[in-house]
Amino acid sequence: MDKFYYIYTYGCQMNVHETEKLAGILEKRDYKRAESAETADIIVFNTCCIRESAEQKILGNIGAVKPLKKKNKNLIVAVCGCMSQQKEMAANLKKKFPFIDIVFGANNVEFFGEYLDEFLKQRKFVNQVIDDKSYIENIDKINVVRDNSLYAYVNIMYGCNNFCTYCIVPYVRGREKSRKPQEIYGEVKNLLAMGYKVVTLLGQNVNSYGLDDSTDGVDFAQLLDTIANFDGDFELRFMTSHPKDLSDKLIEVMAKNDKISKSLHLPVQAGSDKVLKAMNRSYNITHYKNLIKKLRQAIPNITLSTDIIVGFPGETEQDYQATVDLVKEIKFHNAFVFMYSKRKGTIAEKMEDQVPLNVKRERIHNLLQIQHEISTKLFENMVGSTQRVLLEQENNLYYIGKVQCGKVAKISKANTKKLDLGKFYDCTIIDYKNGNLIGRVD
Ligand code: SAH
Ligand code: SF4
Ligand code: F3S
Repeated sequence: MDKFYYIYTYGCQMNVHETEKLAGILEKRDYKRAESAETADIIVFNTCCIRESAEQKILGNIGAVKPLKKKNKNLIVAVCGCMSQQKEMAANLKKKFPFIDIVFGANNVEFFGEYLDEFLKQRKFVNQVIDDKSYIENIDKINVVRDNSLYAYVNIMYGCNNFCTYCIVPYVRGREKSRKPQEIYGEVKNLLAMGYKVVTLLGQNVNSYGLDDSTDGVDFAQLLDTIANFDGDFELRFMTSHPKDLSDKLIEVMAKNDKISKSLHLPVQAGSDKVLKAMNRSYNITHYKNLIKKLRQAIPNITLSTDIIVGFPGETEQDYQATVDLVKEIKFHNAFVFMYSKRKGTIAEKMEDQVPLNVKRERIHNLLQIQHEISTKLFENMVGSTQRVLLEQENNLYYIGKVQCGKVAKISKANTKKLDLGKFYDCTIIDYKNGNLIGRVD
């Protein structure tokens, strides 16, 4: 009889990609993808703990599995990812949800198959949270079942050394470790041969690639340059870049290679030097603005996005206004704004002057509104320009795809020749309506 799996995925692209590895491991063991958790023989929660709200949602969803387990005694429930990597979390989860069968951490997704085999043999709780990710060589051997046939993620490094004071990632993902360039080149070439069109290189801080001395001297700019020179019609993206070490060399490589996306995500986090210092971000606003200036000079059509935290401990009204001023000045195409959330074990957890929830709410609401107006204007200004669009779907009226910054673009079939899905087209933007770009391909 067929066996089915269902994976809940939370958090960032790193987790989305790790779910593709978990799916690969399960499919190798003859499990097939289930339409819903209700019809699965194994349910996996690939978790995130970046903010408290993420954790609350996950705990709620794990709790909701209890009746399924009651109905089907053989149902296997596994929890993995960043949340389970936290100290004592495995034991706490088991106490709260005794029906959980397997817990493992973000550092050892690659071994899920072995944990599953162990559970199937002994039918006893498996708890495998390992601190060290010292075996990244194994990753290449994993069969990855990708979710999308056009967009692919490729890990170039794991972990983070930055210890921004609010952030739990360095505690759950460990220290930075770069993959060998040859392995990355091999994986990307394979993906291009399979027809993938957009390759996104992933790391918590891609600009530190190679600083751990494990890449035979290849740094991020070189890695990017080499891949951008591979044959084929594709686009190369990367995330996330930390402003502290985005080099001039990288800007140069981005500017000269057509295949590198001209859309960049560059988290600023706050607009006040005082707050940036308390966050341990290692740059100030002058440095950030200078970077933006250099990027815009070298790549005039660049689109920028960012992450911002409001309500970091000690953030005064004046500090917050500095963030508002920065957002108004830089004009990001997109900004992901978060309310500061206290994370256990981080330095900011112990800081005094925590900002009350109602103030954080007011600030996020206000900033999102300001950003919405800016985004709308910028996309309206795109009307008349030419943008590269990768077509993904069609309906009766439109071909539908995305431009480089991720914005949806629709091309009316009425005034365009026949187009192929899965291909890039240069598209003239003729309107911006209901949050979508409308274009024409001549
Ligand atoms: N490595 C990436 C992003 C990691 S997390 C980087 O450094 O940019 C993604 C975003 O979540 C961060 O950029 C930050 O804005 C936000 N974030 C991280 N910890 C947070 C916390 N404790 N509270 C609220 N937002 C947080
Ligand atoms: Fe977290 Fe900072 Fe590392 Fe990003 S760079 S993962 S925000 S500690
Ligand atoms: Fe969340 Fe872990 Fe990513 S905490 S944001 S899934 S690195």
